[in-house]
Amino acid sequence: MTRLLAAASSSQQRRYLTVSRASAADAGAAKPAARGGRRVGAALADDDDDAANNKKAKTSSSPQQQLIDTNPPRGTRDFFPEDMRLRQWLFGRWGEVSRRFGFEQYDAPVLESEALFVRKAGEEITEQLYSFEDKGGRRVALRPEMTPSLARLVLSRGKALPLPAKWWAVAQCWRYERTTRGRRREHYQWNMDVVGVAGVEAEAELLAAMSAFFADVGLTPKDVGIRVSSRRVLSAVLRLNGVAESEFARACVVVDKAEKLPREQVVSELGALGVSAEAAGAILDAMRCESLDALEQQLLARAGGGGGGGGGGGDNGSDENNAAADPSSSVREAVADLRRLFDLAAAYGYGDWLVFDASVVRGLAYYTGVVFEAFDRKGELRAIAGGGRYDRLLGTFGGADAPCAGFGFGDAVIVELLRDRGLLPDTSRASVDDVVFAMEEGRRGDACAAAARLRASGRSVDFVLEPGKKLKAALKHAERLGAARVVLVGGKEWDERGCVVVKDMAARTQEEVRAEELR
Ligand code: HAM
Repeated sequence: MTRLLAAASSSQQRRYLTVSRASAADAGAAKPAARGGRRVGAALADDDDDAANNKKAKTSSSPQQQLIDTNPPRGTRDFFPEDMRLRQWLFGRWGEVSRRFGFEQYDAPVLESEALFVRKAGEEITEQLYSFEDKGGRRVALRPEMTPSLARLVLSRGKALPLPAKWWAVAQCWRYERTTRGRRREHYQWNMDVVGVAGVEAEAELLAAMSAFFADVGLTPKDVGIRVSSRRVLSAVLRLNGVAESEFARACVVVDKAEKLPREQVVSELGALGVSAEAAGAILDAMRCESLDALEQQLLARAGGGGGGGGGGGDNGSDENNAAADPSSSVREAVADLRRLFDLAAAYGYGDWLVFDASVVRGLAYYTGVVFEAFDRKGELRAIAGGGRYDRLLGTFGGADAPCAGFGFGDAVIVELLRDRGLLPDTSRASVDDVVFAMEEGRRGDACAAAARLRASGRSVDFVLEPGKKLKAALKHAERLGAARVVLVGGKEWDERGCVVVKDMAARTQEEVRAEELR
């Protein structure tokens, strides 16, 4: 089984290496492993189990020896070559979609200043931060997401950055999560973000890219849907229910948990933000509306603003003051934004992937407008991807605000989904074009030259390095690698005619080729 999602391989055995004390002390990398022995398969196990295993590791070592746990820390993965092939395939597909949409790639350090991720809205992500003090006494953190780093990069360029900027990245992210199927302590996340576009045209383009990726890998709208809503709708609901604007971000984080927590707990957490029980009930009811029309009617009735109608522009956040003064115009604008997004999706041709769902809030405090979440239609897996509009994040870092929208798309759930649907490519075998084999050790120099010639012409070549290997074993090795050809250097073909023998592995034919004509 591939291990891109190694959490699923709970049957994996603990891996221990015995090393002498002297070599363990010499090998810096060995120390943490010996102290904190954890395992990939244990990602599904309890901490108690981990503690017991650590104890075992300590007690079973003799005074001269200690056991090194060769497993990576809990919730993290090793990528063996077969895992890397799958990972590279996935990253390649992400990169290909990003390229087709005209986005530019960027990157940033995994280690960032902790301050970048400290937000006070009670989000899970900030509670799960891997943070520590470095040797210089600075508070640093392993990034749990890419968006604050993107904001930092955008701010550092200031006005010199031509807008709109459309950027993409694949970033390793770290969250101290309870590991489950599709949730790990480290994951890779494809990010696409648009900076500098205030209207839902940005979200429409982002969702076009996301659905293009799904279609590229063979998924259909029957497998995957993308739930869409807007924080502006929720903000209107909160405003209508008397929640102070300063509490919106916190309230959104609470409402996001509504599906996972008992209703009373949500009502009580909202109560702590000054929301009455009646208002909390109204908020939760609005979140259950199944259509935009129904939601609009319900909210306008409560706002006393009369019946439906489109009204408002697609310009997120442009009329905050008007909206605050007139809740019904705020509702109309939020709903108009969503209508326009659905119209654009239909024009692009990916409308079938989208579903309006008023309950989508997303757990990150910084979203200000449209929010969305890709989900498995069978309902077996966690969210596949998520994103939205965040027009005020830059301002929270002390810079000038710029309208931004984007998404993050993890590697874990999508691999589970593709595996379940039989859509993963076969990456079990390495692939090389040619295997070059010296028939006699005396011909190794000539074989080196043949391999160099082939490589210079762009072919990938596995050169058989072990002296004295038998031809039969070399051919078997070539078959296992899936090589297209085997090039044999030596024998009478070489001695008498200066030729190598090129075997075509698929056609089971062979021909003599002059060494200088090999390509
Ligand atoms: P997020 O919803 O926290 O958003 O994460 C986005 C996606 O990353 C999730 O839907 C999931 O695919 C993946 N993911 C998150 N945590 C884990 C985990 N522990 N293990 C495996 N996969 C995980 C963000 O991170 C935003 N910064 C996305 C964004 C970009 N919004 C605007 N631009």
